[in-house]
Amino acid sequence: MIIKPDEMPPHHFYRHMVWCITPRPIAWVSSCNADGLANLAPYSFFNGIGANPPTLMFSAVNRRDGSKKDTVANIETQKEFVVNIVSHANRESMNLSSADFPSDESEFDACKLTRGDSEYVKVPYVKEASIHMECSLNQIVHLGEGSLAANVIFGNILKVHIDDAILDADGAVDPEKLDTIGRLGGSSYSRTTERFDIPRPTL
Ligand SMILES: Cc1cc2nc3c(=O)[nH]c(=O)nc-3n(C[C@H](O)[C@H](O)[C@H](O)COP(=O)(O)O)c2cc1C
Repeated sequence: MIIKPDEMPPHHFYRHMVWCITPRPIAWVSSCNADGLANLAPYSFFNGIGANPPTLMFSAVNRRDGSKKDTVANIETQKEFVVNIVSHANRESMNLSSADFPSDESEFDACKLTRGDSEYVKVPYVKEASIHMECSLNQIVHLGEGSLAANVIFGNILKVHIDDAILDADGAVDPEKLDTIGRLGGSSYSRTTERFDIPRPTL
């Protein structure tokens, strides 16, 4: 099959793309509006991209009507956010938080999640998640216009909080205990319960 994006509407291409680029890690992003109301939504166009400075990115595409998502509007004005990492145990509340709640309703309350006090940012973290990354905005790059156009948010990681309960005896994150999930296409997800090692080659 050959897929040419210029021969189909963006939402058709999007459907193919999300089945091809898999599995995607999920940033569960908390942010606040100017009144301090805490917003929460999952974003799977997400990755860590550098360690000097420690940097991550995620992309929030515009809604079907071309409008910006609340997360983008909040980060544009408040310039800070928290990325919470999604474990299998968080799957239902994470999914619920992706619903199109009104801007003046906090997903923390709607999804019965607990706010944790962050140290470097005013934005709360999700206590039910095992890893939280406090971030300041580095920059937002807008690519395209209208429906499904990307707003790529680059964040400087100021602090990472890892629940001691998911560490192994050497103090590293134990993937079995973290139990992250990945996003596929449609409404499908993958787990990280089956893993393997391949040592890097030396020439
Ligand atoms: C697992 C999952 C991953 C998602 N990934 C993205 C994404 O990468 N980019 C995006 O724009 N929307 C993504 N969404 C949809 C947003 O979470 C959804 O549009 C949400 O309502 C946005 O909330 P906000 O307006 O409060 O920011 C995803 C949804 C789910 C369930």
